[in-house]
Amino acid sequence: MPHEVRGVVARAKGAPVTVETIEVPDPGPGEALVRVVACGVCHTDLHYRQGGIDDAFPFLLGHEAAGFVETVGDGVANVAPGDFVILNWRAVCGQCRSCRRGRPQHCFATHNASQPMLLDGAPLSAALGIGAFAERTLVAGGQCTPVPQVRPEAAGLLGCGVMAGLGAALHTGGVGPGDSVAVFGCGGVGDAAIAGARLAGATTIIGVDLDARKLEWARAAGATHVVDASSSDPVEEIRALTGGNGADVCIEAVGHPKVFEQAFYARDLAGTLVQVGVPAPEMRLELPMIDFFGRGGALKPSWYGDCLPSRDFPLLVDLYRQGRLDLDLFVSETIPLEGVEEAFARMQRGEVLRSVVVIDGAAAGS
Ligand SMILES: NC(=O)c1ccc[n+]([C@@H]2O[C@H](COP(=O)([O-])OP(=O)(O)OC[C@H]3O[C@@H](n4cnc5c(N)ncnc54)[C@H](O)[C@@H]3O)[C@@H](O)[C@H]2O)c1
Ligand SMILES: [Zn+2]
Ligand SMILES: [Zn+2]
Repeated sequence: MPHEVRGVVARAKGAPVTVETIEVPDPGPGEALVRVVACGVCHTDLHYRQGGIDDAFPFLLGHEAAGFVETVGDGVANVAPGDFVILNWRAVCGQCRSCRRGRPQHCFATHNASQPMLLDGAPLSAALGIGAFAERTLVAGGQCTPVPQVRPEAAGLLGCGVMAGLGAALHTGGVGPGDSVAVFGCGGVGDAAIAGARLAGATTIIGVDLDARKLEWARAAGATHVVDASSSDPVEEIRALTGGNGADVCIEAVGHPKVFEQAFYARDLAGTLVQVGVPAPEMRLELPMIDFFGRGGALKPSWYGDCLPSRDFPLLVDLYRQGRLDLDLFVSETIPLEGVEEAFARMQRGEVLRSVVVIDGAAAGS
């Protein structure tokens, strides 16, 4: 029997989101029904509601979530009812050409639920195949990663932005002991990249932002230096902080061509630029090709921090439990489902790292 639950829907491009009653089917083969406990508000949700991802309105937003598996369909073996899980948007298929070559972190055919959730009888597009600003959501079994039970508001953030940032440093950027790292944009994603650089043993970690509050949080996440790009040239400042050379790894966590260019020139020779911020479709890059060639190194986009949820989520939850990864830093506030539109405004005003929607207060830890 389908479940009628409340969920946060973006009905039309640019229109404020609303809380609606939606219909969530029981899980079919390979699917899992999850009782969502907490779900972070990510910039990507705002990209959806602004029509920046695609036009498949109406969207059911929310995708950084933790909760409990309620029921599973036939053939789901990785989780069982009652498991505490973080939802992921990389349920690797094991069969595509990337998986077959031993690169599941680049899987080209990740799984989502096959049945749609419905609004007024019409299919909803679930953000990143998840749709977790809702009391229940339907996902593919592989989108559920079981982890030891910890504070859901914090753990859920590993499901997207915090994982994307950590992985941009740890996996895509390959940051190692003694490296210098500069992170452009110190929101939830950028500060997670800073935390990742610290975990990897980077000795110089520079946070760059336009907003003084963000620079304070960057220090709390592990930045050894910060640069206010509203009043100084970040390329000059980063060179000055790295013996005149530039950083080994520059991580762009804004999604803007100007910032990309700064990160490009703030690298040391043979340095790596990681692009984790999501650009808008109309954005263009223009660079002297000789500078790309002449400086060497690597330019690497990072989707989801090149993570493998089954490998990375339990490991990162362990580091959180040991006090070595401060996920609580990212939970700036907890809000109800009705608070998502206002949380977008607070995100745009730079007031939060993450607003986290708490759906099941009794199971949440805040
Ligand atoms: N690649 C992925 O897998 C992935 C996953 C999640 C999010 N993202 C993307 O990462 C980006 C960051 O997400 P977030 O949730 O941290 O957003 P956010 O809005 O919290 O943070 C962005 C930060 O960039 C700063 N900023 C803006 N312009 C700047 C400039 N010119 N120079 C320096 N800093 C500047 C802002 O002050 C803000 O602190 C978004 O584009 C988001 O869509 C990517
Ligand atoms: Zn695959
Ligand atoms: Zn996200």
